[in-house]
Amino acid sequence: MCGIFSYVGKKEALPILVDGLSSLEYRGYDSSGVYVVGSNCVKSVGAVENLRKKLDGKENTFSGTSGIAHLRWATHGEPTEKNAHPHSDCSGKFWVVHNGIIENYKELKEHLISLGHIFKSDTDTEVVPHLLEEHFKRENDFEKAVKQTLKDIKGTYGLVIAFKDEKNKIITCRMGAPVVVGVGVGEMFVASDPSPILRHTRQVIYLRDGEIATLTPENYNICSLDSTPIARDPEMIEWEVDQIKKDGYDHFMMKEIMEASDVIKNTTRGRLIPENGLVKLGGLEIVADKLKDINRIIIVGCGTAYYSGVVGEYMIEEYTGIPVEVEVGSEFRYRKPLIDKNTMLLAISQSGETADTLEAIREAKRKGALAIGIVNTVGSTIARETDAGIYNHAGPEIGVASTKAFISQITALAMLTVFLGRQREMSMVTGKRICEEIISLPEKMEKILSQKEEIKKLAEKYSIYRDFLYLGRKYNYAIAYEGALKLKEVSYIHAEGCGAGEMKHGPLAMIDENFPTLAIAPSDSVYEKMISNIQEIKARKGKVLAIATDGDERIKELADDVIYIPKTLEMLTPILSVIPLQLFAYYMAVSKGLNVDRPRNLAKSVTVE
Ligand code: AGP
Repeated sequence: MCGIFSYVGKKEALPILVDGLSSLEYRGYDSSGVYVVGSNCVKSVGAVENLRKKLDGKENTFSGTSGIAHLRWATHGEPTEKNAHPHSDCSGKFWVVHNGIIENYKELKEHLISLGHIFKSDTDTEVVPHLLEEHFKRENDFEKAVKQTLKDIKGTYGLVIAFKDEKNKIITCRMGAPVVVGVGVGEMFVASDPSPILRHTRQVIYLRDGEIATLTPENYNICSLDSTPIARDPEMIEWEVDQIKKDGYDHFMMKEIMEASDVIKNTTRGRLIPENGLVKLGGLEIVADKLKDINRIIIVGCGTAYYSGVVGEYMIEEYTGIPVEVEVGSEFRYRKPLIDKNTMLLAISQSGETADTLEAIREAKRKGALAIGIVNTVGSTIARETDAGIYNHAGPEIGVASTKAFISQITALAMLTVFLGRQREMSMVTGKRICEEIISLPEKMEKILSQKEEIKKLAEKYSIYRDFLYLGRKYNYAIAYEGALKLKEVSYIHAEGCGAGEMKHGPLAMIDENFPTLAIAPSDSVYEKMISNIQEIKARKGKVLAIATDGDERIKELADDVIYIPKTLEMLTPILSVIPLQLFAYYMAVSKGLNVDRPRNLAKSVTVE
């Protein structure tokens, strides 16, 4: 998610805009930029501090009382200065900052180029100012040109638009990405969220999808795309800045867990074609033919990314017939992996900078493997060094403990499974069923998230224990390990992931009334086996907190506590079963008063071996 900010009023715009960007940096920043209307534009890669350095000594070249500014979290196009916003048209009259994804930008860009427009960036956003330029030629009216432009674009946007010939007017509009208007005295503001506005005014208007606001220093007008006027009064913001960055939650980790259903929508947006049982993965188009020849896959990741890879192994083997092995990056490169040109190395990484994973990619490429990435951070080193890949589009993950990225990784692996399967024996019916079930997941996830208070009570109930065993089988084997990792890394409590079938080969010895077990036992193909394992635990006086499928009354007789998840395809249960474990770990850490977003000894991205 990017950060947009804009000002129109009577004061010098530049300092207001740059300070506003600093408040938005938590939304991700691989580049930033500012345009003061009718004056000058500056852009820089990296944090806002870099922008400030570029402005040093040049402030007087930015005179003007209105402007637009942007912090970029790249989705299309590398994080470079040329791709940084604001973007302008050929004439330099229309300037735009954008948060969201324009899905039909390729065809729009081709059309505009055929009309003679010259593009300076690789972004989807840049089609907007050129469209404005085209429509203005016919409409000769700023607001009408905006409305015509919005009719052309498909996708999501929070847009702010400036027009050089009307310095005292800013137009903003929203479809699927947040836009907040700040109503000051003789000045107006626009931002992705209220954090940069609060220091100026607490009177805000949250634009709704399909609304367009035209702002001048003294006034605002809101209308719909068909020009129907909309009366909206400002509301008073009670929150403080810190709360806003966390969307009102106490920690980024909780905010990111609660984003889970949106993450599925963002990861799959424009990529599922259920009617044909297909998925469209634009980032794999250039290697689609090579993927047909792949006869072996090695998945590499670290920590949580590794565990998503284990889920992917089960999916891909079951639905494509391709042999898969999964390795932690730190092991892969120090052994002698057997690789040839028909081997695909699939690297999974949220940050795209994990050294162990990166070195594994380099080693595999040296041996001729095709390297594919599943990466959340656009333009990251892993994204650049793999031959092709799938971007998660999960938005920045601030909490050190990876939560929403894990959900997105498994979703991406499910889509990759359909992509590879449909190149092979997978039927249209099977592909359709998987796509349709993925589409149904957000609603099912919301049902689980609505149980957060019950899960909080369970965490408090179990917070007296110092050791936990996590059990799972098959698709939930990896979830047992991921659930244990979550508890360890945010609450510092000892937790062991264990394949439930392995318990009797040793770990069972630890079990007594002081060593509870979290058993992931959905109604799937290994349910009966899990029931037996839970009985073995109970026979040793161990307490059991089970994750089970809605309607399972039998497990209530056995387990001490049960958290229910909706029914879904077996291969997709990990996306649902992990959520209660993420919440359980979060609340355990909160009950201990720990720094949930920044656990001791850990870093968000481990860029050293
Ligand atoms: C997960 O909660 C941890 N923060 C850690 O295991 C993380 O998943 C691992 O370091 C890999 O990071 P990456 O996905 O950015 O490569």
